[in-house]
Amino acid sequence: MTIEIDQTTIPSLPLAGGARIPGIGLGTFGSDRYSAAEVSAAVGGAIRLGYRLIDCASVYGNEDLIGRVLDETFKAGVVKREELFINSKVWNDMHGRGDVLLSLAKTLRDLRLDYVDAYFVHWPFTNYHAPGCDGDARNPDSTSFSVDRFMGVWREMEKIYRLGLAKYICMSNMTIPKLEAVLPLCAVKPALIEMELHPSFQQPELFNYCVKRGIQPIGYCPIGSPNRPDRDKAPGDVVDTELPEVVAVAKAHNIHPALVCLKWQVQRGCIPIPFSVHEKNYAANLHSVTEYPLGPAEMASITMADKNCRLVKGQVFLWEGAKGWEDLWDIDGNIVQ
Ligand SMILES: NC(=O)c1ccc[n+]([C@@H]2O[C@H](COP(=O)([O-])OP(=O)(O)OC[C@H]3O[C@@H](n4cnc5c(N)ncnc54)[C@H](OP(=O)(O)O)[C@@H]3O)[C@@H](O)[C@H]2O)c1
Repeated sequence: MTIEIDQTTIPSLPLAGGARIPGIGLGTFGSDRYSAAEVSAAVGGAIRLGYRLIDCASVYGNEDLIGRVLDETFKAGVVKREELFINSKVWNDMHGRGDVLLSLAKTLRDLRLDYVDAYFVHWPFTNYHAPGCDGDARNPDSTSFSVDRFMGVWREMEKIYRLGLAKYICMSNMTIPKLEAVLPLCAVKPALIEMELHPSFQQPELFNYCVKRGIQPIGYCPIGSPNRPDRDKAPGDVVDTELPEVVAVAKAHNIHPALVCLKWQVQRGCIPIPFSVHEKNYAANLHSVTEYPLGPAEMASITMADKNCRLVKGQVFLWEGAKGWEDLWDIDGNIVQ
């Protein structure tokens, strides 16, 4: 039986302009393993339980079924539209002139909504890979990052913001050098930036860079994405739920290590968006951030566990002449061309 979690116990964070965003959300990327029907059913269950932030994207291929569930949830009086915070993202093949509006129109039709709360540029590249492709897949049309091309997309994002179709416009998979290049050009600044964040990949520089500028980080793969697509698995990848520091804290609290990852992130000021279609897991995830916070020494021990281990390396987005996945992430502090 679903036991609803008291909304007043769920953390939230302020956004520019005074509104608040829930401090934890539900991911909806089925990792090519879970069907759209399973994911959308989880969205319905999660909202009934108390989740108010749902992280969607057109490329996840399930917004139409999620829309059906949202509609049923509103009609059943479980929640009102304005109580939810719905994210969606424009995919890389929709960066051309007019495409952002088209993409958002389809998302709104699929989700059966009049607006999204946050609309993200999913990746700062036009480089497209087919859903379900393997790690060696490359698109010959792929190119390196271009400030002009990105700003073309952002101007379209600013239009949909002004039209009220997205309450906030946001970025994802950015680096500090790319942000340094584009932020001064933005008429409307991003409210949120989605980035990979988990104990073995904490990105302290990027995280702090965003926080300092009033941009709220959202952390994807918060549990270390154990079921991520095979293309995103590489030898040497760290398993967050097996990190000795995480396991030690889990033992002390008698909880699953996954929940330690989430508690640590919420207390760090990040918004994790863990995914699961299993009620036992998504209920435990929400519940975990409402009680028994980690102590300062526990927080510090997990901060020390960082291994700089990026899981979503993005190699399928590489362009002709790129040396390796590191080129996507501007590791030496310059935008790699
Ligand atoms: N912006 C981007 O480019 C980007 C990239 C990647 C992801 N995302 C977003 O971030 C979301 C989360 O990332 P993710 O799904 O890759 O990784 P994740 O949330 O770190 O990991 C999800 C996996 O963790 C397991 N899990 C969840 N709760 C658990 C618990 N309490 N105990 C044990 N295991 C648990 C689930 O296993 P079971 O399936 O067995 O329950 C699930 O398959 C995505 O769904 C998507 O919305 C965004």
